[in-house]
Amino acid sequence: MTNMTAVAAVDRRWGIGRNGGLLRPLPPDLRRFKALTFGHTVVMGRRTFQSLPGGRGLPGRRNLVLTRTPERPLPGAEAVSLPELLALRAPEGGEIFVIGGQSVYELLLPHCRAAHITKIEADLGPADVFFPNLDSAPDWRLVSRTETERYEDTDFFYAYYERVL
Ligand SMILES: NC(=O)c1ccc[n+]([C@@H]2O[C@H](COP(=O)([O-])OP(=O)(O)OC[C@H]3O[C@@H](n4cnc5c(N)ncnc54)[C@H](OP(=O)(O)O)[C@@H]3O)[C@@H](O)[C@H]2O)c1
Repeated sequence: MTNMTAVAAVDRRWGIGRNGGLLRPLPPDLRRFKALTFGHTVVMGRRTFQSLPGGRGLPGRRNLVLTRTPERPLPGAEAVSLPELLALRAPEGGEIFVIGGQSVYELLLPHCRAAHITKIEADLGPADVFFPNLDSAPDWRLVSRTETERYEDTDFFYAYYERVL
């Protein structure tokens, strides 16, 4: 199944987070993330779920959380196993977005057909979690990117990748 789309914000080294949080939340990127995913299904790992504001699922979206402990309460979200997830089909007109973190990107990227990557053109200090480097992946190609924008002192742009194999 390759009907999912990954969404991530990475730094120059494809770092995505540190100590359970993001490296540098960028308000314009967070708005774009909301616009992309609103009304759709988002899939995340349990650690990413625990990092969400208020410890709740993201409003206006179906929140699915991969966990091996499904009895743990997940306010505003549903626990899902990998087999359940891989059997899932998006409703008509809906999309399934894979939103992290590292373990879930690694697990589900083979099932993704596209990836929206916000590239922050900075080294944001040592990350402890990473997104796979799509620029050196033979089965992914960069389709498009926006002009570089600046938020405060941070340059960034949006890149769109597609699976080729
Ligand atoms: N920059 C970005 O775009 C971005 C986006 C999202 C997250 N992040 C960052 O990424 C970090 C979190 O990533 P992470 O890799 O540590 O954790 P994660 O992928 O969010 O969650 C890991 C958890 O997912 C569950 N899981 C993973 N594989 C599974 C499987 N095959 N079956 C069932 N459950 C499975 C397990 O939960 P249980 O332990 O409950 O079994 C595992 O402990 C944070 O720093 C976060 O801020 C960054």
